[in-house]
Amino acid sequence: PAKIAVFISGTGTNMAALLYASRLEGAPFEIVLVASNVADAGGLELARIEGIATFAHPHKGHSREDHDAAMEQAAKDAGAQFIVLAGYMRILSEGFVRRWEGRILNIHPSLLPKYKGLDTHARAIAAGDSHCGASVHLVTPELDSGEVLAQAKVAIASEDTPEGLAARVKLAEHQLYPRAVAEYVSRGNDPEYLLARVRELALALPETH
Ligand code: GAR
Repeated sequence: PAKIAVFISGTGTNMAALLYASRLEGAPFEIVLVASNVADAGGLELARIEGIATFAHPHKGHSREDHDAAMEQAAKDAGAQFIVLAGYMRILSEGFVRRWEGRILNIHPSLLPKYKGLDTHARAIAAGDSHCGASVHLVTPELDSGEVLAQAKVAIASEDTPEGLAARVKLAEHQLYPRAVAEYVSRGNDPEYLLARVRELALALPETH
């Protein structure tokens, strides 16, 4: 299975969903590290209980580059091939993102391209949207703007609060993220995917006469 490092800042329920999905028979990924910028992030404890290596490195007092370098070293030491952000609330430095381009995924609580950034649930409610949801996307230097790989829709009720809605979005995220990660890390072994990329490449090449 593909080795993934999961970065968290909070309760880590998406990390838990990934972890338990990775334990199912035939899962195409395994978690080799759970790393956090928050020393007492709830998810670290769950990872420890499950025997997963953890790494905590508070960002305070470090430049973004230095902090990212420490997180990156921990991921490399653990043998990670992919980095999966799950409620990781720090923007990554451009250098880090470039070095891992195509190998970092994020889950964001909105139907991207709508509502990048924070307070997505409150903004969807305030706009009178009928639905919000979650998106799994590739991470690029520009915040919440990389290619969207998968989305789940969640209905908004007229009496919804941001907190209540956020809790339902998380339920959807827990289904979406393991599946999207599994699909993504498996693509390198999928002949149809490879063929499609070859065709894309051929189309992108200038015609020669
Ligand atoms: C999730 O809802 C995730 O989409 C969101 O934080 C929550 C983390 O929950 N991520 C972002 O807002 C990223 N900008 P969890 O710690 O329980 O997985």
